[in-house]
Amino acid sequence: MPETSQYDEIGELYEQVGDLPFGIAERATVLSAVPDLRDRTVLDVGCGTGTYARLFRRAGARQVLGVDPAREMLAVARAAEEREPLGIAYERYDGLTMPKLGEFDVVAAIWPLSHVGDRDSYDRMVANLAENLVPGGQLLIVVPNPDAGSDRLDDYPRYGMTVFPGGYTGECVETRIRVHSDPPFEFSGFGWPSGVLEESCAAAGLTEVRRYPTVVPEPDLAERGSEFWAVLLESSMFAVFTARRGEN
Ligand SMILES: C[S@@+](CC[C@H](N)C(=O)[O-])C[C@H]1O[C@@H](n2cnc3c(N)ncnc32)[C@H](O)[C@@H]1O
Repeated sequence: MPETSQYDEIGELYEQVGDLPFGIAERATVLSAVPDLRDRTVLDVGCGTGTYARLFRRAGARQVLGVDPAREMLAVARAAEEREPLGIAYERYDGLTMPKLGEFDVVAAIWPLSHVGDRDSYDRMVANLAENLVPGGQLLIVVPNPDAGSDRLDDYPRYGMTVFPGGYTGECVETRIRVHSDPPFEFSGFGWPSGVLEESCAAAGLTEVRRYPTVVPEPDLAERGSEFWAVLLESSMFAVFTARRGEN
């Protein structure tokens, strides 16, 4: 596992994402995809500062384990747990090399696949996620929207994010992201073409791959108006998927 990552520079700033328009829609769309979590166990891979781990616990999950390779992101997550204990455990693992940590009802991977830049590693991370699911359990994935039209990029800054596409490395496009927090921060990642996630899930024995339409909470729709949200609703920068591990 690398000693540091680009996220060690970001840490606490990442917490501001949830207040930006794209973060509000991302969270609502993720929540539309999660099953009833009451009494379920959840593994959150690439948990970052623990935003979703806390949401899953507050939604009733009986056990939540968050893992991430970035020490600084984990430090923010652990500090939040210390301030307001919810019983969430955080451990340092990389999704590419993590062992089987248990059999969880839900495994979430909210953005870590966007940091994988070669196909073998992509398939390996999806296989590692699948291996941590109970038979019949649900994988929840957020990746960059594989179908986002490049003509939409100019509209994204109003949602709190600027996307700078770079060159292709094999199948995937390297992308720099600027998040309009205060102060702004940047990181880079990879966008994969449509169909790759589905193929990778099939190779890992996952079925029922399903994509969810973007959701904007009613109060936010009312506050800013439907014209403001139109592009995000039609072609957002994120895509939320679920898949199921076969019963065996
Ligand atoms: C955009 S942040 C999202 C954090 C969190 N999931 C959220 O949505 O609030 C991406 C996270 O993926 C983590 N990450 C990057 N490469 C990873 C890998 N190989 N395995 C697991 N996590 C990884 C980063 O450290 C970072 O915390």
